[in-house]
Amino acid sequence: MTDRITIRRPDDWHVHLRDGAMLEAVARHTARQFARAIIMPNLTPPVTDAAAAVAYRDRILAALPADTGFTPLMTCYLTDAADPQAIADGHAAGVFTACKLYPAHATTNSAHGVTDIFALAPVLERMQAIGMPLLIHGEVTDRTIDIFDREAVFIDRILVKLVREFPALRIVLEHITTAEAADFVTAAPATVAATITPQHLIINRNAIFDGGLRPHAYCLPVAKRERHRLAVRAAAVSGSAKFFLGTDSAPHVVGAKESGCGCAGIFNAPFALESYLTVFEEEDALDRFEGFASENGAHFYGLPLNDGKVTLERRPVIVPERIGDGDTAVVPFHAGETLGWRLVD
Ligand code: NCD
Ligand code: ZN
Repeated sequence: MTDRITIRRPDDWHVHLRDGAMLEAVARHTARQFARAIIMPNLTPPVTDAAAAVAYRDRILAALPADTGFTPLMTCYLTDAADPQAIADGHAAGVFTACKLYPAHATTNSAHGVTDIFALAPVLERMQAIGMPLLIHGEVTDRTIDIFDREAVFIDRILVKLVREFPALRIVLEHITTAEAADFVTAAPATVAATITPQHLIINRNAIFDGGLRPHAYCLPVAKRERHRLAVRAAAVSGSAKFFLGTDSAPHVVGAKESGCGCAGIFNAPFALESYLTVFEEEDALDRFEGFASENGAHFYGLPLNDGKVTLERRPVIVPERIGDGDTAVVPFHAGETLGWRLVD
């Protein structure tokens, strides 16, 4: 039995680091595990221009010790007013790695999101021309569509057409949760990829209702039926270069989760690699973990692989019930559970 596993230093291709006190509290967890991360721009107000992204990047780096060697990769939050030239300039200046598309009102801080994706054709054409990836929160917001169907309906109504009309646009379908998404990405051209979170590999929708309402198991896209979890797991461990690690770690202070209207988001950053590794071991796919965690994403983004290694060892580790206090008290994914692997510092 393997008791230690060493891989090239991995990246997190989708994370929410927040701002202010929460940023100060959570950034180090991501920087400890990952060399680089794609930073989500859904602050209030959202990060929609390069000046805001540079200022946010500076705040992220200021929240970390100087020697962490962590690189935040910034994203531009697309709105109906997105300007192709400003986005291309931000990309050329090395500020924006990608653009993030939230359908308006799909999730946390998405009120400024896009109401009609195809009305952004000039932006998408420009991104396609310069090779700038489009990261998509793939859910329709139509209130007549069941929340558990919103990802599959997004694929049918929007994504199929988007891939057809922008055949060279690099698209990442973020945090996939369904068999439909796994199948779509697998069958799509090489321009289409997907990130996968630990929670969607580990929980199905029963976790949200397990003996009572469980706000800490609630995120968007919401966890789906067991058959979908199994399909997403199969995709993650398949060895396909189209699937890579993106935690979607999304901390909310405990009171905002344990509330009459609890926020969507699961904070998984402190034990993300341990979570994923548990899944790869259960699926007898330890040999594919490095590709998923450290190679596929970099290749898709056209970035170099990281230098350096990380090691995980087989050792029981109890996940705390709570991390931080006061304004930054967050309940982590796996709270109170014992995991079988631990990242070696
Ligand atoms: C994210 C957040 O809280 O910012 N929440 C979530 O449930 N994943 C937003 C998002 O990525 O949808
Ligand atoms: Zn997210």
